[in-house]
Amino acid sequence: MLAIGGGSGLSAAKAVALLMTNDVGIESLEGDGRAEHPPAPTIAVPTTAGSGSEVSNALVLHESGKVREVVIRGRGYEPVAAILDATVLRGLPREPLVFAALDALTHALESLWSRGRSMFTDACALHAAAQILEALPKAVAGQVDGRNARGENDEVLQRLLEAASLANIACGNSGLALVHALSSSPAVDAPHGLQNGILLPYVAGFNREALSAEGRELVDRIGELYGAIGFEARFDSGQAEAGAMIDASRGHVFRSNNARESSDEELRELLRLAGAIASAG
Ligand SMILES: [Fe+2]
Repeated sequence: MLAIGGGSGLSAAKAVALLMTNDVGIESLEGDGRAEHPPAPTIAVPTTAGSGSEVSNALVLHESGKVREVVIRGRGYEPVAAILDATVLRGLPREPLVFAALDALTHALESLWSRGRSMFTDACALHAAAQILEALPKAVAGQVDGRNARGENDEVLQRLLEAASLANIACGNSGLALVHALSSSPAVDAPHGLQNGILLPYVAGFNREALSAEGRELVDRIGELYGAIGFEARFDSGQAEAGAMIDASRGHVFRSNNARESSDEELRELLRLAGAIASAG
């Protein structure tokens, strides 16, 4: 399997690779290590600097009507090779560039406030987050003035691409946390990276006390980053519904993996600040 695409495309290809060797319905593989046979060998070429799916043994699918997304993971489900080549990012429009990179930044920071973190995941997460905070404004500027398209910004794009993979190596080993628990509802009609980017500063504030001094220094730069890239951390009216997001997070391993425990009431307030519409939940 040659998988080329953003996070959703790579996930879909990884699902097909599993079905090539397992004669079952994909929904029967939901969970951890459910496939009898390893997937067909897969080479992944990410075309966004974001999900890090190219180095992950998990894949995420959306099924409308389900309370949260379908996650399939297992030892050996990761691609056998990932090709990280910045030249494929040259023509990337602003939105997929920004949304994907904010997903990657969220992966790194969530790793820092996860219960599953270790010295190994911290080393990857701290470096990945610092690189993304530094490179993303330059990548966005290069998209606007055409330097990305002309191949004059490849060094920055390559850094972003490698940082996105590194962030997934961090969160893939520590587990994700509250942002991803809240963004796991297929009922919210917004790209994964956009949702995470909006939720990130609020969840970072919620977890700030649980972070090391180095981690705090990084989360304190989120506001400056958003100013530099013109990203507003707020859902459009009607885009996100708090009840569906809290429902999706209830009992989710990502919520219980968050360093600071959260009540539904605290989440409702956090989502209100992020512009999600209130509901019964
Ligand atoms: Fe993500």
